[in-house]
Amino acid sequence: MRLVRTGAFLRAARYARLTPSYTTSSYLVSTTRCNQLSNRCASTSTITYPDQSVPLSDEVDPRKTEDATDKDGATEGFADFLKSQPSGTIIRNADHAQSGANISGKSHIFDSTTNVTDSILKLVGRQLYHNPDHPIAITRSLIEQTFASPRFTHHYASNPVVSTRDNFDVLGFPEDHPGRSRTDTYYVNSKNVLRTHSSAHQHKAFQTLGKRLAKILERDPNKPGGGGFTICADVFRRDSIDRTHFPVFHQMEGAYVWSAGPQREHAIEKSMKYLPKDLDMEVLDEGGPMNQETNPLQYGHSELEATHVVNHLKRSLEGLVSRIFEASQDDNKDVAKQPIKVRWVEAYFPFTSPSFELEVFWQGEWLELLGCGVVKQSILDNAGLEQSIAWAWGIGLERLAMLLFRIPDIRLLWSEDERFLSQFKAGRFNHFVPFSKYPPCHKDISFWVQASPATASPVAAEGSAGVAAAAGGDATKASPADTQPAAFHENDIMEIVRDVAGTLVEDVKLVDEFVHPTSGKKSLCYRINYRSNERTLTNEEVNGLHEQVIMQMKDLPIEIR
Ligand code: PHE
Repeated sequence: MRLVRTGAFLRAARYARLTPSYTTSSYLVSTTRCNQLSNRCASTSTITYPDQSVPLSDEVDPRKTEDATDKDGATEGFADFLKSQPSGTIIRNADHAQSGANISGKSHIFDSTTNVTDSILKLVGRQLYHNPDHPIAITRSLIEQTFASPRFTHHYASNPVVSTRDNFDVLGFPEDHPGRSRTDTYYVNSKNVLRTHSSAHQHKAFQTLGKRLAKILERDPNKPGGGGFTICADVFRRDSIDRTHFPVFHQMEGAYVWSAGPQREHAIEKSMKYLPKDLDMEVLDEGGPMNQETNPLQYGHSELEATHVVNHLKRSLEGLVSRIFEASQDDNKDVAKQPIKVRWVEAYFPFTSPSFELEVFWQGEWLELLGCGVVKQSILDNAGLEQSIAWAWGIGLERLAMLLFRIPDIRLLWSEDERFLSQFKAGRFNHFVPFSKYPPCHKDISFWVQASPATASPVAAEGSAGVAAAAGGDATKASPADTQPAAFHENDIMEIVRDVAGTLVEDVKLVDEFVHPTSGKKSLCYRINYRSNERTLTNEEVNGLHEQVIMQMKDLPIEIR
């Protein structure tokens, strides 16, 4: 027998893996009521990986980026040990003084801000957008074909850990923006989050693009250049559980920059010529390119130039929507053709002005598809693109894919069941054929909470999509300033259910709510609907899961009835 023990072996004995149940209850802290936004979204023909798939590397940012390894304060050897562990498993050191995880090959030490759980970290790295026959990848590919190389460089951001600086600060999010709340965002630690939107990579992508455009301009100073990028990323938001929400979804970011040069205005106007014309769709646009009161032109932009940029942005996106819906209708000829109708509405994002959302009229209702706008000049200036002007958009792929492929439940997109996966082929938008519907089994849980502003009715929040669409969080709800550390927040139940039962839960809904007339306490009753997309769940299994949920809920600031 060999008696040589490697350092790794010895360290392994000192660090134990955490069980999911341990991590959930200890990391959750309730703050304020800010619900999240519905996923945004987007998808045609042949799938080819773009020629210029460039990873977003740190090298484009000369400052030290915090999104790499955080070893700060790690006890000796712990950070290195984490790196040797499988990605996505939470590890605690021997005296339980520290915990952390390897996420996408990098060590992260947790602190009191951490609220990521095992179940969330397990979803990191699936990269559905790189499986060419998956609806998410088919949708992604069509968008890339529309915003095609070589004008556009296509980036994939595989590591979801980004600094709070890149996710919020650089983009101008105010300190009290609801998107920053721990109830809405997964914090790896106080400095890093699981990105809540693909815009977290804008800054680096603009820097890289800036260098490319500078070279073009160097070669020919009289010819103002232009160029753009797309970024595809999985994004994470703590959210409700239902058929259209999953804590991880996919976004694509797109931007186009006209670089500095004496004839920039002329160049923008000229680019309009390359956009698709006479689209077969109805477009409603009452707001126009800007509104000085509600959707202003930026200081330093001429009205004419900004109008050209907005028009170019809007026509480009209308072209995308038309192409996507045409492709879907061509691949489902048995379904009666619907005329495509879209409308532009004013929006607000901290990093664009003027800003817009594009909605599509689909099966009797208006659905928000994407957010976009003229990029704030400060963001371009910070990325070395002074004197340039740009537009940007962000699309959620799930909403679009679910609509195009008629996928009724977002969990299916994460399914590894061949009956789901074998239905799709690169470049095709055929409708999903449901293979079966297994029986649901619901269980209720009732409890008392202290009635307070921070426990604003979750019912009122349902389906809401307030102005602060960007990066999650809903500005129509209480802001983090109203936060009471020990207050109950609906997302905490969602997180417990998710961690215990994962994709075995179809939805969690508030079904009853009343305030006790004398004690003033509020009673809430939530219904957890257990149903698998892949098999029939046994009673025993559901009872076991529900008991675990109740056990973990005892750690919340509530009183179970
Ligand atoms: N990041 C925004 C969101 O998640 C979308 C967006 C991207 C808006 C780029 C404007 C420009 O909602």
